[in-house]
Amino acid sequence: MTAINRRRALSGTAAIAVGVPVLAACGGGDTTAADPSASSSADSPDSPEGETPSASGGTALASASDVPVGGCFVVASAKVVLTQPTAGDFKAFSAVCTHQGCLVQSSTDGEIPCPCHGSRFSLEDGSPTAGPASSPLSAVEITVDGDSITTA
Ligand code: FES
Repeated sequence: MTAINRRRALSGTAAIAVGVPVLAACGGGDTTAADPSASSSADSPDSPEGETPSASGGTALASASDVPVGGCFVVASAKVVLTQPTAGDFKAFSAVCTHQGCLVQSSTDGEIPCPCHGSRFSLEDGSPTAGPASSPLSAVEITVDGDSITTA
């Protein structure tokens, strides 16, 4: 059952390129976590009509300034978490926790936290630093052009 949920969660990342870029609020007060049972949007085909093409051809995710150095910023609509482990070094991962599918949270504390059961992931490579999750967040390719971060 875990494998099925995980496969479903990973397949959800395929929709990242066509998701509508609505940015999640950043900050410690935002505890929006997706209920794994409520993530049925992966079951219905999404239309790419709402995407916002950027100059680089990808879909706009966020501004570089949205991503704190030593922290992460969740783009909930795209289910992507952007990180900036060191100044100017941006990385992106699936925001779907590999434990039971909650969305991870924006943070400034040096790791990517999952609010559901306390898993934490590395800003550098998405690997779990604290359980119960034991698998890394999958990497997502992005393009950083000035202050604009888009899907690759
Ligand atoms: S769903 Fe993330 S820790 Fe359980």
